[in-house]
Amino acid sequence: MADTVSRQAGTLHLASLSTRLAELRTQVRRRHGFVDRIALALHDPDSGRLTTLIDPDHAKLQSLGAGYPVADLRALAALADDGKTHLLDAPAIGAVDHEASRLWAGYRSSLAHPVTVDDKLLGLLLFDSRTPDVFDTRTVEDLGIYAHLLATIVSQELTSVQMMVGGLRLARNLAHLRDIETGAHLDRMSHYARLIAREIAGPNGFDNDFVEHVFLFAPLHDVGKVGIPDCILLKPGKLSDGERRIMDGHVALGVDMVDRMIRDFGLGRLPQLALLRNIVAHHHEYLDGSGYPNGLGAASIPLEARIVAAADVLDALCCTRSYKKAWPMRDALAEVSRMSGTRLDPQCVDALLRCRDEVEAIHDHFELPAERHP
Ligand SMILES: [Fe+2]
Ligand SMILES: [Fe+2]
Repeated sequence: MADTVSRQAGTLHLASLSTRLAELRTQVRRRHGFVDRIALALHDPDSGRLTTLIDPDHAKLQSLGAGYPVADLRALAALADDGKTHLLDAPAIGAVDHEASRLWAGYRSSLAHPVTVDDKLLGLLLFDSRTPDVFDTRTVEDLGIYAHLLATIVSQELTSVQMMVGGLRLARNLAHLRDIETGAHLDRMSHYARLIAREIAGPNGFDNDFVEHVFLFAPLHDVGKVGIPDCILLKPGKLSDGERRIMDGHVALGVDMVDRMIRDFGLGRLPQLALLRNIVAHHHEYLDGSGYPNGLGAASIPLEARIVAAADVLDALCCTRSYKKAWPMRDALAEVSRMSGTRLDPQCVDALLRCRDEVEAIHDHFELPAERHP
């Protein structure tokens, strides 16, 4: 799970990185007009391949299909682990296989600079030209300086986002230690959320990046429960009105935590974090305005929060609680469809019903451990 999180966190910095790459390209082109593209190919540590490209000319992450194995690239251009810039000329690019040709389609020479953090390869910063053999020694030295600068920014960016996600996960895990939500609940609900997001992102004008961020942030929806006193959080019986008000305050506490972390880590420029904030702030709002804390109506509840609400409700029904038994999936889905259009977004409910087999597979995969709810 930790691996998945860090991998997903790697996509968070897309927007700000794209902007920085574009800025760098403007500067570089003033001195070296033949540099046609500056892009960042992200390295997937699990497969050892370059799988994704951040190119400022494209608003979205570009998938490189199965990806290009870095090991092959090393052999090809003597790209060593020494953190230095390496030159690929036209014949070398011509020699790379079909998958890699996606990476360099239309380019005839390329300068590749590894971006590393703690000796781990995060990706390759590429300076590409449509002209063959344009990188002479002086250009390589000059671009090396820019490359170093950007490599530092990239690694800082990535590290700070990972710190943020790590910090919130830590907080969530502390809450978990206090037995608010079991890990299995968070695993299941985040997979349901990803499934719903995958089904409805396209029709709502969102891309795969949105889907993965929903998945990354969904388990943090109740992070604010860390601030709720044990006597209320762990109370086996029904809460009094006063206790209920305090309990409901977990939403405001969570928003506060997220805002503070965004501020402390200087991450305000990362637009994807608005999605995290929306999930934390609005996961208890219902379409008909009967939710809390703000009683928002359908039009005001962000899609990511509606997705998480549906996923969370479905799994809550399937969990054992102090006041109820775990419902069988069939009954839980029937209940969720009763809530469709009033409390829950029909698009989300329909996605769950449409993918019933997958929903059941997720449920069975993250089998309920002996839940510690009394
Ligand atoms: Fe909550
Ligand atoms: Fe939950």
